[in-house]
Amino acid sequence: MTPSPGRIRLARPDDVARLEEICLRTGDDGGDTAGLFREPALMTAIWLHPYLRQAPDLAFVAVDDADVPLGYVLGVADTTAFQGWCEDQWWPALRARYPEGSAPRRSRDAHLVELIHRPDRAPAAVLQRYPAHLHVDLLPQGQGQGWGRALLEHLFGALRDRGVPGIHLGVSPANTRAIGFYRRMGFTPVDPADAGLLARRL
Ligand SMILES: CC(C)(COP(=O)(O)OP(=O)(O)OC[C@H]1O[C@@H](n2cnc3c(N)ncnc32)[C@H](O)[C@@H]1OP(=O)(O)O)[C@@H](O)C(=O)NCCC(=O)NCCS
Repeated sequence: MTPSPGRIRLARPDDVARLEEICLRTGDDGGDTAGLFREPALMTAIWLHPYLRQAPDLAFVAVDDADVPLGYVLGVADTTAFQGWCEDQWWPALRARYPEGSAPRRSRDAHLVELIHRPDRAPAAVLQRYPAHLHVDLLPQGQGQGWGRALLEHLFGALRDRGVPGIHLGVSPANTRAIGFYRRMGFTPVDPADAGLLARRL
């Protein structure tokens, strides 16, 4: 599929409000998170802002004719280095602001607070073979037109230029549409214990 008119470019600081909107409108297994969180800022603090801050050169947006982002792909080349940066530079302030147990028990917010204190980690063998990882999200009006493929291929090209050998990602097993997309894009499960951990060589 060929993307409709528009293009891919690096994300810019003046895109941030729109990127937050995209993150929140796609963050419930691909659907809108409106009304699900007391603190929607937790979503963007985990899934968006650290990527823009630590790896702005691998944050690409698909834009419409008016140069407004329809979606993004956020990549990091070295997940281990990214996690180290988050431990030093990103999580401490959030952990202070949202202490463990600060959200209502078993709420959606509580799950995010838990992630801030105990971030997901792929197994070391996966990180070694597939050191990069990504997140990709498109607004509904940008889906199903080839933008997801175009964003991933753009990121893959940038990672290959850096000599990165492989990339992994996490996806909710409930997000069957995204899993179908990732399989089509060459990702396969790499950990028998985790159906939501997919990877591919670059
Ligand atoms: C998942 C998502 C990124 C896919 O992007 P997209 O632009 O809709 O997908 P594309 O149109 O680029 O499709 C790329 C290819 O995957 C195929 N594909 C897409 N969804 C598929 C599915 N569910 N099953 C099988 N193939 C699928 C397309 O047919 C296309 O094939 P081709 O290029 O070989 O012809 C997008 O739908 C999205 O942002 N969804 C909401 C947010 C989300 O769930 N993000 C992922 C969180 S882990």
